[in-house]
Amino acid sequence: MVALASHADLPARDLPAQDLSVRPDYTLDQPRHLYTAEDHAVWRDLYQRQAAILPGRACAEFLAGLDGLGVAADYQKGGGIPDFGRLSDILEAATGWRIVAVPGLVPDEVFFGHMAARRFPVTWWIRRRDQIDYIQEPDVFHDIYGHVPLLMNPVFADYMQAYGAGGLKAAKLGALHRLARLYWYTVEFGLIEQADGSLRIYGSGILSSKTESVFCLDSAAPNRLRFDLRRLMRTKYRIDTFQKTYFVIRSFDELFDATRPDFTPIYAALDALPDYGAADIAAEDAVLTRGSLDAKEGGWEDGTADV
Ligand code: PHE
Ligand code: FE
Repeated sequence: MVALASHADLPARDLPAQDLSVRPDYTLDQPRHLYTAEDHAVWRDLYQRQAAILPGRACAEFLAGLDGLGVAADYQKGGGIPDFGRLSDILEAATGWRIVAVPGLVPDEVFFGHMAARRFPVTWWIRRRDQIDYIQEPDVFHDIYGHVPLLMNPVFADYMQAYGAGGLKAAKLGALHRLARLYWYTVEFGLIEQADGSLRIYGSGILSSKTESVFCLDSAAPNRLRFDLRRLMRTKYRIDTFQKTYFVIRSFDELFDATRPDFTPIYAALDALPDYGAADIAAEDAVLTRGSLDAKEGGWEDGTADV
């Protein structure tokens, strides 16, 4: 065990200095005694806001996962930030995954290592009330509410483990930026098409954001393009505004099948090709919606550059 002196270096949430024992793999026991009544109230408010808008917007697999985890039942009973051990027991029985508490963002190899072993790292602390609409760093609401329900789905659970193993490999090949783009445009900001052609959300960065949950489906501003693995791995993204482009899959099987091949030759081939900016549309793209790219509507005028 190593002691992390303080969390004062975390910019997102200035927690009181605490001596928390953090293991070499960056995990710790969820410090439930540090949650205040206000922390639990912030969870409940975030939960309530999303519950009001996500039916009909979130994909069925997400809503089923949320239900299966008992998060909704917890809320009905007046519960706040969930107990990671209890969620892990339910999750493990369903798909073999467990949740591990971490102090915040962890180094890439640590993150990939946990994922490859079917352990999902979850930030233990919650945002402050004044950050309720937006926080750039993941907190417990984003990590639990946004990510964990889909780990109850067997296909998505396998995809996430494969992603972890793929990350360890990409690090050795100098291709982490390509894999990061894949994560961003699928796990964090992915849309999925239902059999009737309507779109639903499966990306956790959207599912934990009230405003983007509406924007990504209803706004005329962003592009919505058919998922294409190579295209997506060439596309830069925005980290601090709504997305300019969403990629749409037809099913989790499509996503898992497309990412099953060895990426080594794909990484090599892509290095000879130029990147796309976050808003670009290429002649060969299958376009579902060509966005107006109205900067005011997307909030893009204040944003930083694509990465
Ligand atoms: N098939 C990928 C590789 O060879 C691994 C991977 C699977 C990456 C699923 C992301 C998602 O690197
Ligand atoms: Fe995330």
